[in-house]
Amino acid sequence: MLNVTALCTEYASAGGQPVKAAQDVTFEVPAGKLFTLLGPSGCGKTTTLRSIAGLERPKTGEVRVAERVVFSSEQGIFVPPNQRNFGMVFQSYAIWPHMNVFQNVAFPLEVRKQRPSRKEIADKVMRVLGAVQLEELAERDATKLSGGQQQRLALARALVMEPQLLLLDEPLSNLDAKLRHRMRFELKRMQRDLNLTTIYVTHDQSEALALSHEIAVMNEGRIVQIGSPRDIYERPRDRFVADFVGTTNFLDATVISANSGNGRCQVSTRFGALDVQCDEPFRQNDTLVVSIRPEDIELSEQRPDRIDGENIVAGTVHAKAFLGEYLDFQVKVGENILLARAHPSLRTPVGEPIHMRMKAEKCVAIPGAH
Ligand SMILES: Nc1ncnc2c1ncn2[C@@H]1O[C@H](COP(=O)(O)OP(=O)(O)O)[C@@H](O)[C@H]1O
Ligand SMILES: [Mg+2]
Repeated sequence: MLNVTALCTEYASAGGQPVKAAQDVTFEVPAGKLFTLLGPSGCGKTTTLRSIAGLERPKTGEVRVAERVVFSSEQGIFVPPNQRNFGMVFQSYAIWPHMNVFQNVAFPLEVRKQRPSRKEIADKVMRVLGAVQLEELAERDATKLSGGQQQRLALARALVMEPQLLLLDEPLSNLDAKLRHRMRFELKRMQRDLNLTTIYVTHDQSEALALSHEIAVMNEGRIVQIGSPRDIYERPRDRFVADFVGTTNFLDATVISANSGNGRCQVSTRFGALDVQCDEPFRQNDTLVVSIRPEDIELSEQRPDRIDGENIVAGTVHAKAFLGEYLDFQVKVGENILLARAHPSLRTPVGEPIHMRMKAEKCVAIPGAH
């Protein structure tokens, strides 16, 4: 449905050197799916979205929507943003304060070159207000809505034009935490019910994991990994991704014996030899980094029997933090500290020995020098 190919967008800067805000950005979004651009502030998410919308003119690349080319540097095509039929909602969704809810949504239709009839406008507006569950509030002043309702109003205004593609740039970041969580469910429901092909931009990893069919993690203008939320979280291909999405422990390692066909290899670390998951080919003596999530380290006071496909490492409890639903343990092994997440029922005191059990498939090898 949407194909973005080798998009590069630069900004002029005062110093003379252009800012390469988006570099070689390539991805594809199937019809009806929600695709997220995730990354830290300044990594080029908004630039990419604006380039797709036609609000920035990329230096090179191509954007196609349902086989219609809306931008191509090679063919010299640039369809102006108002002719692309995309709906957009930004972080600062400007609703019109002097209008009521109905009028806010009707406005984009009113100013259309071929203005639909009164009745058509009313039908369309009430239909989208229904979809965002605001129909009861149609007559209310837009300024008298709560934050979440204003957000839904902004969405309704984007949807009333029946866009082919919906572009959302951090649409929830102005809401408080509770509402943000609830709106995630709402957004997901609407996206699915209306079968909207959507690009969603956020720096919030849990939002991305909760909402997306697929995520592209961006760093310094480039996409570093594309995958399902589970892929991105459980099989990071890159140190940046492992670190940015969720919390993890990194261990420097060197390959002892290479892939044995089952996606495993044995590596040496400061904790001794470990069996780890490797999705890329490694050779003996290659250096790599192992990423282990705190929730994948199982703690016990008794030393567990080691079974195939598991690693057991002994340490001592260095510090603990009670977080209600779980306990964070810092476990000291030699000079190293690992973070492990345990059930609050585990009461091992600081200074006592503790054993860590880690499944090989949860110890993910990531290529890279130490
Ligand atoms: N209009 C602009 N002029 C110059 N530089 C810009 C402009 N907009 C963004 N940038 C720069 O481009 C880079 C990417 O910005 P942006 O796409 O806004 O990132 P994000 O949305 O991921 O926070 C940043 O280094 C930013 O400072
Ligand atoms: Mg941004």
